[in-house]
Amino acid sequence: MTTARTRTDGVLVDRYGRVARDLRVSLTDKCNLRCTYCMPAEGLPWLAGPQLLDDDEIIRLIRVAVQRLGITEVRFTGGEPLIRPGLVRIVSAVAALEPRPRISLTTNGIGLDRLAPALRTAGLDRVNVSLDTLDPARFAELTRRNRHADVLAGLAGAVEAGLTPVKVNTVLMRGINDDEAPDLLRFALEHGYELRFIEQMPLDAQHGWDRGTMVTAEEILAALNAAFTLTPDPTERGAAPAETWLVDGGPARVGVIGSVTRPFCGDCDRTRLTADGQVRACLFATEESDLRGALRAGADDAELADRWRTAMWGKRAGHGIDDPSFLQPARPMSAIGG
Ligand code: 5AD
Ligand code: SF4
Repeated sequence: MTTARTRTDGVLVDRYGRVARDLRVSLTDKCNLRCTYCMPAEGLPWLAGPQLLDDDEIIRLIRVAVQRLGITEVRFTGGEPLIRPGLVRIVSAVAALEPRPRISLTTNGIGLDRLAPALRTAGLDRVNVSLDTLDPARFAELTRRNRHADVLAGLAGAVEAGLTPVKVNTVLMRGINDDEAPDLLRFALEHGYELRFIEQMPLDAQHGWDRGTMVTAEEILAALNAAFTLTPDPTERGAAPAETWLVDGGPARVGVIGSVTRPFCGDCDRTRLTADGQVRACLFATEESDLRGALRAGADDAELADRWRTAMWGKRAGHGIDDPSFLQPARPMSAIGG
């Protein structure tokens, strides 16, 4: 039977024919910020030490993904990945894999100025830094920490260390920072960062997301078009979630990720590994596959790979945010990884 054979072939294919090439690894669920759209002020009940994969377990699972499952892109996320003590070592080990995957990191930027050179030397290719406002007071309100200057220093440090192109991720919220779209783009153009706006998704621990007040891709584009001339970017989009536009004729670009109103699930090429060793086929998956248990019970690489394939085979067609039956996943974004 073709389907049975496909599932046990090398790559991570699902029943809709999508192939996962891009692995997102969450290195910790902890964070040194408390963004209001992500976490409550007091933080969350963090994963306990023994639940977390140790560095060698993470490296082993990534090796299995790269060598047996066709993963070509590894992105580290959190929580905040820069606070994981073993980060540089993990990046070096992944950069030494054959075939070498591309390696990137999604971070809030705090401490990146200090860590960027070592990460670059270890083999990190690129970073995405989250920044939702240019105003330090607003930043302090939004993240509940007075660290705006640290993020700006992190961005500059990333460019200096050659972790380019540096991308900036922004989530706009109505009445909070939705007046900043053109200013953020001007800032990004000035510094050579590539800005991408992400529609807010229902992934906050507090379940406060509201479809009705969410700032949509259409609104973001209207705000940008009022200040700049955007023309469609001729480069191939592929599986990239961002739709990109050339700004004032290019070469600078801006991206909008319409996760909710312009879903790209049909082209999704992602698989996710949480800090406690669970495979998730999707940000919004309600099921997870426990690789940590198998690994600690002595499973060999072939068995781990096969469990991963089985997990991905069950990936759903789409996130279904607009279905009446939609259920927000039990894990918040900070424990899944962006
Ligand atoms: N919706 C969209 N983006 C989010 N992020 C965190 N929570 C959400 C959400 N609910 C963003 C962060 C960061 C990236 C990891 O995901 O701002 O840029
Ligand atoms: Fe930390 Fe990112 Fe959540 Fe903000 S959105 S609290 S930076 S994990």
